[in-house]
Amino acid sequence: MAIRSEIIGCGSYLPERIVSNSELTKTVDTSDEWIVPRTGIKQRHMAAEGELTSDLAYNAGVKALEHAGMDASELDLVIVATATPDSTFPATATKVQAMLGMTSGAAFDLQAVCSGFVYGLSTADSFIKAGNAKNILLIGAETFSRILDWDDRTTCVLFGDGAGAVVLRANSDNAPSPNDVAYNTAKGILSTHLHSDGRYSDILYVDGGASTSESVGKLRMSGKEVFRHAVKNLADVVTETLDANNLTQEDLDWLVPHQANQRILASTAKKLNLSLDQVVMTVDHHANTSAASIPLALDEAVKDGRIKEGDLLLMEAMGGGLTWGAGLVRW
Ligand code: ACO
Repeated sequence: MAIRSEIIGCGSYLPERIVSNSELTKTVDTSDEWIVPRTGIKQRHMAAEGELTSDLAYNAGVKALEHAGMDASELDLVIVATATPDSTFPATATKVQAMLGMTSGAAFDLQAVCSGFVYGLSTADSFIKAGNAKNILLIGAETFSRILDWDDRTTCVLFGDGAGAVVLRANSDNAPSPNDVAYNTAKGILSTHLHSDGRYSDILYVDGGASTSESVGKLRMSGKEVFRHAVKNLADVVTETLDANNLTQEDLDWLVPHQANQRILASTAKKLNLSLDQVVMTVDHHANTSAASIPLALDEAVKDGRIKEGDLLLMEAMGGGLTWGAGLVRW
């Protein structure tokens, strides 16, 4: 019997405070004229003092559960993809589990930085297909503002805080198997593809952490290097994903990418021959929210009616590690 993972709800949460590029110029030696043409970023949200990743994650999770019409007690698993957990341990996911009032099921964090949501999608899909979970809440949540070096203008202007979530459900009643003609047209996750290459860990990293230093550390990045790898790796993984499903770019309705930089998004869209209207872009108002950026973009486009039932969505991301990956989903 085939089992299919279906995304049956989504939700998101952004901290109240919005910081525009012009507000940043009061404390950082930068300008709107520098930031916008290079990145597309106009503003970002920033968590309030005392507002934690678990708070953002919980709020996004509640909205996704509401949208799915599911009660938290029905969940078997909560996964929080984050590089900015509340603490070294326990996992932020277990805090969210308690906040949701759950007294059963399992919860863990997943760390793949900006690729966290795609890694989470693949992990959740595998749990469901193996029969190890039926209902999963997958959340991408980050408070990157806490790990930015506000004296480093080359990085601090690029990121924002936020959270997005999806609810996945196992369909074992009428799910087509990979050999069925209906496989590509039926609702659910068609495939996911993950990669990493640890040789490049030094082009995007945080210079602290439990085992190396007394502080959590700050984000460091060689922007040009990251840009170069992102353009190549993302082009490769989207091709791999379409090929694996015997589909072409013409079959795609939407690209729902990790929102790092408008120029990276435009380059991927061009490679796929997609018009920019088919790319869900939120980088202008969210900046780069790491693992939260795909579910934040997804939620925006689902709730404003752009993404409709039956649409084919390609999600892709690259981040520190380096890690990268993609997922193809029939909505
Ligand atoms: N404001 C004003 N000037 C700045 C700023 C700033 N915020 N940041 C850098 N500059 C200056 C530099 O000091 C430098 O000045 P100099 O020539 O006098 O020395 C000049 O601008 C050019 O700096 P570069 O670092 O060479 O700028 P570049 O054109 O490479 O753009 C950027 C930087 C936007 C970060 C680009 O490399 C990029 O987009 N990289 C992708 C990185 C990314 O998106 N990472 C996100 C995490 S990974 C992911 O999610 C995929």
